Amino acid sequence: MSVPASSERFLAKARGLPVDEVMLDLEDSVAPGAKPAARELAVAALRDGGWDGKLVAVRVNDVTTPWAYQDVIAVTEGAPGTVDTLILPKVSDPGAVVWLDVLLGQLERSAGLAPGRIGIEAQIEDAAGLAAVEAIAAASPRLVALVFGPADFMASIGMRSLTVGGQPAGYSFDAHHYPLMRLLVAAKARGLQAIDGPYAKIGDADGLRAAAASAAALGYDGKWVLHPAQVDIVNDEFTPPSDDYARAARILEAYERATTEDRRGAVMLDGEMIDEASRKLALAIVARYRRGDDPPAPPDHGGLRTPRTPRGGDGAKTTPPPPGG
Ligand code: GLV
Ligand code: MG
Repeated sequence: MSVPASSERFLAKARGLPVDEVMLDLEDSVAPGAKPAARELAVAALRDGGWDGKLVAVRVNDVTTPWAYQDVIAVTEGAPGTVDTLILPKVSDPGAVVWLDVLLGQLERSAGLAPGRIGIEAQIEDAAGLAAVEAIAAASPRLVALVFGPADFMASIGMRSLTVGGQPAGYSFDAHHYPLMRLLVAAKARGLQAIDGPYAKIGDADGLRAAAASAAALGYDGKWVLHPAQVDIVNDEFTPPSDDYARAARILEAYERATTEDRRGAVMLDGEMIDEASRKLALAIVARYRRGDDPPAPPDHGGLRTPRTPRGGDGAKTTPPPPGG
């Protein structure tokens, strides 16, 4: 959930929303003249807390602005230990991430925080950034996620659409497939999360649902929301149908039986051949969508913390065998 840090009302409201992560934005949703005040409001909101169960992120301004270093210092020194990740926008080359990594290292030492406590999410939102995305993904051990920024990206490549995250008229395929896929592969090659950006047409629930469904199906770990009305739709699309979850559990069970009791590495299940690769696929489904009563993920800055209960049907009650088979 992206919240302009310049709005006390929105900051207060965001605390009660069922989102995995809240991002206090100091960048593009804050007018240039409001930047210093927004910085102060962000620090106050971080100190006040109340974000329990949510990852807390601050989006600082990009490295070409005069605000970036002050943003980083203000939130790290003003509210030490409260921020899980900083989101660095408009990352066009790995140097920007290295800059933030070095600065955070100094600030952590000075504030007595554990080294590496603050993670980085790099936003890829122009042609140069996408062209360098593999190097950016490898630029710092602090990186936890790559985030696609459709609005800036569409502007950067000259895509003819004024709806952020929407499809341009005249093009008959999915105009966002290439950047989304490229970013996803770069992220996963480095063990990072891949996060899709916003869909700005708040009243267009169907358009948002289609965009979220598409990113989730591709393998994305999450998607931004800009408004409370978008939260349930995106949570819903990123939660697996219970059928998938139940089938993943059945695959794990059947494969476990086949390999241990029958000593066979490939067996038929419901007319489909399953083997070690099927087990990996099933584990990925089970791991991503932990049951609602599972213990929370370890408190690192990398994961979505809200456990997911598969949606619909009896599959939600299926308990899969433990990961590892
Ligand atoms: C978000 O920052 C975007 O540019 O879409
Ligand atoms: Mg942007």
